[in-house]
Amino acid sequence: MKWRYYPEDVLPVWVAEMDVPLAEPVARAITDAVAIGDTGYPSGTAYAEALAEFATKRWDWTPAVERTAIVPDVMLGVVEMFRLVSHRDAPVVVNCPVYPPFYQFIESLGRTVVEAPLSETWRIDFEALRQAFTRAGEGAVYLLCSPHNPTGTVHTEAELAEVAALARQHGVRVVADEIHAPLTTAEFVPYLSVADDGLSLMSASKAWNLAGLKAALAIAGPAAADDLARLPEEVSHGPSHVGILAHTAAYRDCGDWLDALLNGLDENRRLLADLLAEHLPAVRYAPAQGTYLAWLDCRELGLGDDPGKVFLQRGRVALNSGIPFGTGGEGFVRMNLATSPEIITEAVRRMASVL
Ligand SMILES: Cc1ncc(COP(=O)(O)O)c(C=O)c1O
Repeated sequence: MKWRYYPEDVLPVWVAEMDVPLAEPVARAITDAVAIGDTGYPSGTAYAEALAEFATKRWDWTPAVERTAIVPDVMLGVVEMFRLVSHRDAPVVVNCPVYPPFYQFIESLGRTVVEAPLSETWRIDFEALRQAFTRAGEGAVYLLCSPHNPTGTVHTEAELAEVAALARQHGVRVVADEIHAPLTTAEFVPYLSVADDGLSLMSASKAWNLAGLKAALAIAGPAAADDLARLPEEVSHGPSHVGILAHTAAYRDCGDWLDALLNGLDENRRLLADLLAEHLPAVRYAPAQGTYLAWLDCRELGLGDDPGKVFLQRGRVALNSGIPFGTGGEGFVRMNLATSPEIITEAVRRMASVL
């Protein structure tokens, strides 16, 4: 999508796809399956077992395989979790600015989004969250983005514990979208390690660039086991068997590949900071510890609410406009740093050229 959506003269640094060669064990898992015609339906718990081993090694937390379920992808998994733990009309609280499909999926379910803006340093603002829980009312759901897209905020253990306490106090259930979890240089704390009534969605799709190989895992804390047990069996028909093979290989065999990626992303964050300081000093950028996304404050450039549109039209560089990320997105763009230093350099050059 990244390289096909815009005309050829546009440099794409937008949608969350990475410009990386596929990790070799993932490629092998797929080609082996094709070689023997293993392209039917999924079976077994290998995906959850691979995640459990990965999570134990990386985060010192072990999800219980028996409290997991395969789902088609993270967003459809999120929708299913909403259905399990809330009434069909229950509002959903989100921390804006946030991944635009959060709004789209919630609204297409006929539900209301209640915004709890992040603080100025992009951390959870607990007063805003308390007010949002009060507005949303008992029985609402909170869709936590951890780490947070687009700001890259990695929530701390203390913050997550406070989320859990506040949610319980207000009778709000928490669904954590943890798709970016492997993409952190800070310590990532799984929500279920602090809240036994939480539900989480994890997937190898972001960190190993497997979005085209549909699969994800829903995970329940011990006190949410009965909720997950009510997941309709037909939901498991959605994920792709070949996708599950690929995701399993990623979690199980591709830790080194991930570490190399994380090193490269760190370098790219430093490069972007240097390039902006040199060519676009009015753009404010705080390098984050999670995700491969950069959330750029362009409000001082004088390009209006949608600088992304100007960068595209006049600079021929495609970033994500901040506006669909909800309240607080005006004047911002999101840049995808999972690419080469050359492309980042050229993207900044094109952005600067519009001024
Ligand atoms: C926070 C977040 N959740 C979900 C997704 C999409 O995941 P999936 O394709 O598995 O639905 C993305 C993709 O970028 C994302 O950033």
